[in-house]
Amino acid sequence: MSWLRTHTCGELTTDDKGKEVVLNGWVATRRDLGGLIFIDLRDRYGITQIVFDESNSDLHGMAEQLRSEYTIGVRGKVISRSKETINPDMKTGQIEVEVSGLKVYSKAETPPFEIKNDIPTNEEVRLRYRYLDLRRPQMQENLLLRSDVAHTVRNFYHERSFVEVETPVLMRSTPEGARDYLVPSRVNAGKFFALPQSPQTYKQLLMVSGMDRYFQIVKCFRDEDLRADRQPEFTQIDVEMSFVDEETIYSTHEELMAKIWKKHLGKEIETPFKRLTYHEAMSRYGSDKPELRFGVEINDISDDVAQSGFKIFNTTVSKGGKVLSITVPGEGTMGRGALDRLTDKAQNEAGAAGMIFMKLNEGEITCSVGKFLDEETMQKMADSSGAKDGDLVLILAGPQPDVYKQMGTLRLIVGEQFEMIDHSQNRFLWVTDFPLVEWSKEDQRYYALHHPFTAPRDEDLEKMDSDPASVNAKAYDLVLNGSEIGGGSIRIHDSETQQKMFRVLGIGKEEAEEKFGFLLSAFKYGAPPHGGIALGLDRIIMLMAGAGSLRDVIAFPKNQKAQSLMDNCPDSVDEEQLKELHISLRKSALT
Ligand code: AMO
Repeated sequence: MSWLRTHTCGELTTDDKGKEVVLNGWVATRRDLGGLIFIDLRDRYGITQIVFDESNSDLHGMAEQLRSEYTIGVRGKVISRSKETINPDMKTGQIEVEVSGLKVYSKAETPPFEIKNDIPTNEEVRLRYRYLDLRRPQMQENLLLRSDVAHTVRNFYHERSFVEVETPVLMRSTPEGARDYLVPSRVNAGKFFALPQSPQTYKQLLMVSGMDRYFQIVKCFRDEDLRADRQPEFTQIDVEMSFVDEETIYSTHEELMAKIWKKHLGKEIETPFKRLTYHEAMSRYGSDKPELRFGVEINDISDDVAQSGFKIFNTTVSKGGKVLSITVPGEGTMGRGALDRLTDKAQNEAGAAGMIFMKLNEGEITCSVGKFLDEETMQKMADSSGAKDGDLVLILAGPQPDVYKQMGTLRLIVGEQFEMIDHSQNRFLWVTDFPLVEWSKEDQRYYALHHPFTAPRDEDLEKMDSDPASVNAKAYDLVLNGSEIGGGSIRIHDSETQQKMFRVLGIGKEEAEEKFGFLLSAFKYGAPPHGGIALGLDRIIMLMAGAGSLRDVIAFPKNQKAQSLMDNCPDSVDEEQLKELHISLRKSALT
């Protein structure tokens, strides 16, 4: 007699009444009403109620032994539920299966947490028992969504003549960006591969090869400090196209996003997406990934206060810094305690030196540094901040660009605290024209803001040697609701400009030859103009699922310390293994 299922636990309805069926699954709950034992049998597809009647005492006795998470097969007849047990919210809620045979595939120990959505279990335990965590309906939904979106993405690119190419996972270490994960080579003593931080160089080489349009859903590895939206191992939808400009990349990916949102969330996304240059984004929102689901914008009130009686304002402005404000509508009567708490956050979370506030009430303006300011100055500050009666104005002063970033963080704190963010919206945005390079005070050198292969804007090419900091790049990020979900650029496609870029970054000719010689050489054999983008699949799914962390949309993620608790890695290895790899450990690693 076969115990292979005839149906899943999510599909039987009154249409199947009278059928003899076999179901396989896990015991979700067991209710023992004496004469009758009800079990909710669960699999990936849903739950079906099965019932054991005491008229078959052997079976009933077996059912008494069943416990949560036992894996079983049952045979029986589909019947209608009694009126009072009908559950209209479930697809299978009208029927139950009257059991005539039972097979226990495997018993289960009591799980460390209940298999249901809202559990008060800490994440460490969930990660340790990930295979059980993944039985929870929410986690299953997230993984299914991820699988479905990946399917849509693949079809989308295939339909548009993109070629899916697998690029190596063992590659050479690149010095830019985050730290590499290294892999020692047994057969090449003392030599290391790196795991790709992204397939950037390979996809560019594929353009030189004439592939024309490439895509890959690909694992990337970065050894960097972790946050809720960062994993050491994550997935990119990686794309490169030849003979294109930014517009082609924008429109293709607007179409992709609209398709995904429509198909998997049933939501219409308005295209084309809004665009802001990097400089606009920073000056209006204090962020290169602005949250646009609320409207508070940053105002530059430096001119109003440059000559005021308040010394901090004057010196900030005279030293080239900025005095910035945001207006919080309707909070003009905020009490001292609440303002102190907000000041605390401005200092501790946003990193501001201090926060000044102004309240507008019944035609009167009061300010926390009011005794140093005349009425006319305060009126100007309020006007430049667009503040009306009843509003609160928050002010930060400091050097650029830090003060913009601090105000950007304060803006987000305020948006959250006063529930200004409209969570029903999806605000996509292209941030364009990033600076090509950024000066590091610490290292006394320039770093590429995107990566060293990004092309400068044509009109800025001449300034690459004389004033690299003022050069804008043909680089763009795709932002959704304050998260960076993608980034890309039009690339440099000639050896000369590429070498110039390496020079700006302080990478000498020899070093460039050693590390990127293959790319420079490839560019000498007919390289097409090309550009591309990489979208963060994990982040996209996280936002679509409304999940709080990337860990909720990755089957087997790492924790905040870049460890996998379930299979306990990274872990030490045998001395013998190290020997084969020609590795001896430093003292600091042995304790
Ligand atoms: P970039 O470094 O901007 O660009 O990465 C592209 C996108 O990948 C996602 N992402 C991450 N997601 C989870 N965890 C991480 N640690 C992580 N790091 C990045 C983000 C990001 O927008 N080669 C270039 C792309 C190109 O120029 O075409 C690149 O990797 O959503």
